[in-house]
Amino acid sequence: MTNQQDKTIIITGGAGFIGSHVVRLFVTKYPNYRIVNLDALTYAGNLENLRDIEKSPNYFFERADILKTDEIEKIFSTYQPDAVIHLAAESHVDRSILSPLDFVYTNVIGTVNLLNTAKKSWNNNFANKLFYHVSTDEVYGALGETGFFTEETKYDPHSPYSASKAASDHFVKAYFDTYALPIVISNCSNNYGPNQFPEKLIPLFINNIIHKKSLPVYGDGLYTRDWLYVKDHAAAIDLIFHRGNKGETYNIGGFNEWKNIDLVKLLCKLMDEKLRNRAGTSEKLITYVKDRPGHDRRYAIDASKINKKLGWKPSVTFEEGLSQTIDWYLQNEDWLKHVTSGEYQNYYELQYSKRDGR
Ligand code: NAD
Ligand code: TYD
Repeated sequence: MTNQQDKTIIITGGAGFIGSHVVRLFVTKYPNYRIVNLDALTYAGNLENLRDIEKSPNYFFERADILKTDEIEKIFSTYQPDAVIHLAAESHVDRSILSPLDFVYTNVIGTVNLLNTAKKSWNNNFANKLFYHVSTDEVYGALGETGFFTEETKYDPHSPYSASKAASDHFVKAYFDTYALPIVISNCSNNYGPNQFPEKLIPLFINNIIHKKSLPVYGDGLYTRDWLYVKDHAAAIDLIFHRGNKGETYNIGGFNEWKNIDLVKLLCKLMDEKLRNRAGTSEKLITYVKDRPGHDRRYAIDASKINKKLGWKPSVTFEEGLSQTIDWYLQNEDWLKHVTSGEYQNYYELQYSKRDGR
């Protein structure tokens, strides 16, 4: 798609972590686009994430559930979108282990519902239309000590979350092959940054350090993830949306692998520096707990395709990004308080109360 014309884009999951950064980028960078944030506002969706841009004339919010065909069709009929950027999902592996069906409903059936609605609304006239599906590197499974996931790596998901994302990716590809629906998919590594819900490793541990709570490291702590700053992911989505080839997949990664325990120690060091009177205390909160079942040992992305074809690379180092992320959480304690009240306490109890000790 060119970025010259006016267009209307539905961004699903725009009130969530990554979605809110994508919405902000598109609303501010493309004032001639109409950006419609379609979000059900589950526990992970939070309109506070978008306070700074919510009054922009090119921003619209629609509360709707991607599982409800009538709601989605009405929004398509009202806005007549040229494109969809689909991020709405259940996104946390531990929750997928507790309730896998929620992931099948939202990630698989919700995605197919959106594909059907886009196809119907565009009435088989697909010129200048695009369905962009945002996915994860977890669909590729687990690596040993060496190797990288490329766009050709065979899918081999292990968690209910990654299985549901893999299924949704397959459906998106099937709509391209079967109906010629113009699609593009990106599979990204672990994101971190402002506005991430404190159930994922980095914001959970920042919140626990603030409250002097234990830091539950799963298993031996030697699991490896590739971390990417969320604004760099949003920038990659922008590039792929405008210049990606239809029907293709792009891997996005941070060239930034960390073993969990090393990352947690770096986080503790930075938190000690930023919080007064904490020197050397945060690391003492580290507690090794029972492992996550089916825990993937290592993820690592080969992002050379997006680098070579579209010229993308991460813009911040991990130390810079992590430092900015910690600053954001320390400056936004109200945001943290709001999202960790209510349902969060129940989840925390369910997820961690029986985990202490191995
Ligand atoms: P998130 O959990 O922070 O946000 C998900 C958003 O989707 C929330 O705003 C929620 O309200 C909305 N949503 C959930 N169910 C919905 C439904 N039925 N109808 C409408 N809206 C619904 O997730 P995130 O971490 O921002 O991830 C966004 C996307 O990026 C997901 O598709 C995820 O699989 C993918 N992804 C995430 C990461 C990561 O590290 N977080 C990495 C790669 C890919
Ligand atoms: P997470 O942020 O849940 O992302 P993902 O499972 O999608 O990679 O977890 C990142 C890594 O941190 C993963 O190896 C699991 C581990 N982890 C812990 O050790 N303790 C925790 O409390 C959490 C949430 C994750």
